[in-house]
Amino acid sequence: MSDLSSIDLSVSWLGQTMPGCLYNASGVWCREEAELEAVRTSAAAAVISKSATLSAREGNPEPRYHRTALGSINSMGLPNHGFAYYLDYARRYDYGCGKPLFLSLSGMTLDDNLIMLRTLAAAGLPAIPEVNLSCPNVPGKPQLGYDFVTTTEALNAFDRAWPGRYGVKLPPYFDPAHFAAMADILNRHPRLAFVTCINSIGNGLVVDVDSESVTIKPKDGLGGLGGDYVLPTALANVREFYRLLPGKDIVGCGGVKSGKEAFMHILAGARAVQVGTCLHHEGPAAFARIAAELAALMLAKGYRSLEAFRGKLRTL
Ligand code: SIN
Repeated sequence: MSDLSSIDLSVSWLGQTMPGCLYNASGVWCREEAELEAVRTSAAAAVISKSATLSAREGNPEPRYHRTALGSINSMGLPNHGFAYYLDYARRYDYGCGKPLFLSLSGMTLDDNLIMLRTLAAAGLPAIPEVNLSCPNVPGKPQLGYDFVTTTEALNAFDRAWPGRYGVKLPPYFDPAHFAAMADILNRHPRLAFVTCINSIGNGLVVDVDSESVTIKPKDGLGGLGGDYVLPTALANVREFYRLLPGKDIVGCGGVKSGKEAFMHILAGARAVQVGTCLHHEGPAAFARIAAELAALMLAKGYRSLEAFRGKLRTL
């Protein structure tokens, strides 16, 4: 066969097989239950919820998201309905659909994260936590993933609070010494099964020439960059952690707007691929389009499965 139906985009990881490799990045189409369900019933292969804090948050003042020709800048500030809302969704989630549910957790303190992990563990659900170590948008709260000592303490505590497999969402790193240092920390945690690379590139500044102004209100205009701006940095993080974290899975996130970028992430080593800015702009129909483009690219290259090229990026 040489048609698209012969292309297998399924992904086996975390003890299950999901029907494709694409799902939403936490933060996009996942704050409201209706959005989560729209993702679940689309061509996405999994669902992840908006980063939950223990109590609901309004987030930062508007405008807090701005679209640009190259992507986006945001400083949402973790607006969410609070952990109980997403736990309730997880209790009612249709796990039989074959699409894993990930719950993103972003406690304002370590204790908050531990309470959420323990509560989730007590609920005995198949939902898998992705702990967000990298939100750049809460004024006065640094990104945990840039503080290696605090990250070490947090992961040690997560291991005690949560009995199963889990993942973390990392900020982008920019120096080989930091890749190595973070990998050394992550490798000490066998149940840390996956890392999602990357969150937005934090604290960028987009300037509007006409108004001579910043484009978002929080933090005097500083915000996380997504879209085309971040693709090369995301790929570097995926590739480096793929090489440095044997036995763990890497979820690629950053700059995916077509099958081509999804292919690049998998070539760099990603097990699965999240879509953020493009999903924000296009809605859940993006998953079917990107999956079809990825399948067409694989067909043209003679690859039938993602395993055939995952991590096989060539160097010169
Ligand atoms: C936000 O709510 O500010 C975005 C979340 C994140 O970047 O982790």
